[in-house]
Amino acid sequence: MTSLCPPPSRIFCGREDILNKMHQFFSDTGIQHIYVLHGLGGAGKTQIALKFINKSSSRFTHIFFIDTCTIATIETGLKNIAVLKDFGNSPEDGLLWLTSKVEEWLLFFDNADDPDINLNDYIPQCNHGNIIITSRNPGMCVYAGSHSPVLDMEEEDAVALLLKSALQKATSSTEQITAEIVKVLYHLPLAVVQAGASLRKSSTMYQGISFIPVVHPKKKYRSLWNSSHIFCGQLENGILCSFWTLPMRSNLIH
Ligand SMILES: Nc1ncnc2c1ncn2[C@@H]1O[C@H](COP(=O)(O)OP(=O)(O)OP(=O)(O)O)[C@@H](O)[C@H]1O
Ligand SMILES: [Mg+2]
Repeated sequence: MTSLCPPPSRIFCGREDILNKMHQFFSDTGIQHIYVLHGLGGAGKTQIALKFINKSSSRFTHIFFIDTCTIATIETGLKNIAVLKDFGNSPEDGLLWLTSKVEEWLLFFDNADDPDINLNDYIPQCNHGNIIITSRNPGMCVYAGSHSPVLDMEEEDAVALLLKSALQKATSSTEQITAEIVKVLYHLPLAVVQAGASLRKSSTMYQGISFIPVVHPKKKYRSLWNSSHIFCGQLENGILCSFWTLPMRSNLIH
């Protein structure tokens, strides 16, 4: 089996509902399946697709990853298929290999965000094969046989992810503090992982007594503090796009 996909995160957590739905959808053979995962940047679309592919790799004969950011990257991906299969050296040759090879190949179109790209030009026009598309654009559902919106994580999974990412043991005390932190991060996986990386360096933060969530009057920042540190996240259009911590000093919070 050929696989050009990277593995999922080693600390992948949760998303069982979507993974089960994908398993169900791809379970029958002999027709072309297209599944779309759509949601905000950092919501975890690519990770879910990689986890599904990793768990189900025996279901597919060949697995191809296509960076779908631009027409140039798509064409490079398709050309690579042709070259790999010794079937020519152009994107058209790659598409021809896929349409002519009546097998259970899987094409993963990752980050298909640009609404000006017509994916129909790159989806093999045939009745076989399997396709996963990830996109920030829900309009991509027009291509889908089935789809899932990728929303915030379940609280329990976000807590587990933050603890793993911060290299902290799960105890009732760390879980309680972590539940407060992930609430402020809207359970968004990218923010949770960033927060974990930031917390990794200062495990003393977990000895804090209680955390107080605070919304900045301008609603641009949310912060949270305990006796020793302030946790800050910057919001843009309601999405938390960065996270950092500061040591607690009175002049920083007044
Ligand atoms: N289920 C998960 N378990 C562990 N980590 C996760 C999970 N989902 C996402 N992450 C972390 O969050 C980061 C962002 O996730 P991902 O790249 O899948 O988001 P995305 O929705 O594809 O974003 P974009 O629209 O920017 O491509 C990942 O690099 C990974 O570190
Ligand atoms: Mg992605």
